[in-house]
Amino acid sequence: MQSFDRLEAEPWSIDGLAIVDGRLYADGWVFPEIDNAIESRFSINGKPPDIVQAVDRPDVAELFARRKNARSCGFHLEHPIDLSDSLLELHCASRFDTPRTRARNSAFVPLSGPAIDRAVPSADQRFRVIGNRDLSGFLRIGCTDAHKLLALIAADFPALEDLRVLDWGVGCGRVARHTCDSFGAFTGVDIDADNVRWCSTNLPGRYESILLRESTQFAGGEFDVIYGVSVFTHLREDLQNHWLAEIRRLLRPGGRAYVTVHGRTAVEYGCRPAPEIEAAVARLEREQFFVASANNQLEGFVPEPDEYVNVFHHSDYIHRHWQKHFASVEVIPGYIYTHDLVVLER
Ligand SMILES: C[S@@+](CC[C@H](N)C(=O)[O-])C[C@H]1O[C@@H](n2cnc3c(N)ncnc32)[C@H](O)[C@@H]1O
Repeated sequence: MQSFDRLEAEPWSIDGLAIVDGRLYADGWVFPEIDNAIESRFSINGKPPDIVQAVDRPDVAELFARRKNARSCGFHLEHPIDLSDSLLELHCASRFDTPRTRARNSAFVPLSGPAIDRAVPSADQRFRVIGNRDLSGFLRIGCTDAHKLLALIAADFPALEDLRVLDWGVGCGRVARHTCDSFGAFTGVDIDADNVRWCSTNLPGRYESILLRESTQFAGGEFDVIYGVSVFTHLREDLQNHWLAEIRRLLRPGGRAYVTVHGRTAVEYGCRPAPEIEAAVARLEREQFFVASANNQLEGFVPEPDEYVNVFHHSDYIHRHWQKHFASVEVIPGYIYTHDLVVLER
């Protein structure tokens, strides 16, 4: 088995997070970096935590047998929290950070404000977008994904409040509940009409259900920004091509789309035994795009649930094929947890 000093992107995981009596407790793992001691990598809203302890994680080492020194990746940290802050950013610095990718190594926790106060969708509605029914993960991971997107969009466009933004594949607003107040105009669309109805009733913005194989009713150039978290991860190639063309049509010239795909990082973080991961990496290199498995999460809620599958994209494939529709294509590995983020400019 080949072993690596570093994987393509090295997302990290918070396995447990609690705030008790104004104090944050977090446990998780992040792969070690040479000459970058775990004790000095963390900050919470810009300040070093009170307590950071290194913890051995043989369970993680077993899953990531190909990653050298994976065992010494665990951490436990504690810090007093100022509950008047609306948002908490837990950052783990990496020597591979650039200003553009810095937020990849942040987790965001909502402490107060509308994103917390809003109604929450039912467990079944949440299951259809994230594959589990855990409410705290829905809120925390949705907040993290949203603020990672906002960090990039804010770097690309000077004034968020001037933007007309589309959340393509909004689901039940897992991300939208944290982004919809930031922009001048906010629209969400999805093929899951029940989840769209929930968003219309409970979130600010305009929400429309759409059809899998048709164009939307919006005018060409209607949006400055379109984002889509984990939608291209579920489309076969013919539908992918249809939606690439539609996204291009909906963006104004100079507008940008931010969409996620399962790339090499998703394969590496597939949490399977190492030989299976090696086979999947080899398949990705060989086929560049492939349908890995069926996904029955939308059964009973869309007319063609069998069209909803799990697919993987090689970054070379993205550059080669998606470039046909867009002026520029950038792939940021592992930016939204295990998903690569593709930034497309019309
Ligand atoms: C994995 S879920 C992610 C939902 C949401 N973006 C999030 O991050 O929570 C994928 C969503 O895409 C929707 N979807 C699938 N194909 C679509 C398409 N062609 N156009 C719009 N939405 C689609 C599904 O109904 C589902 O809500």
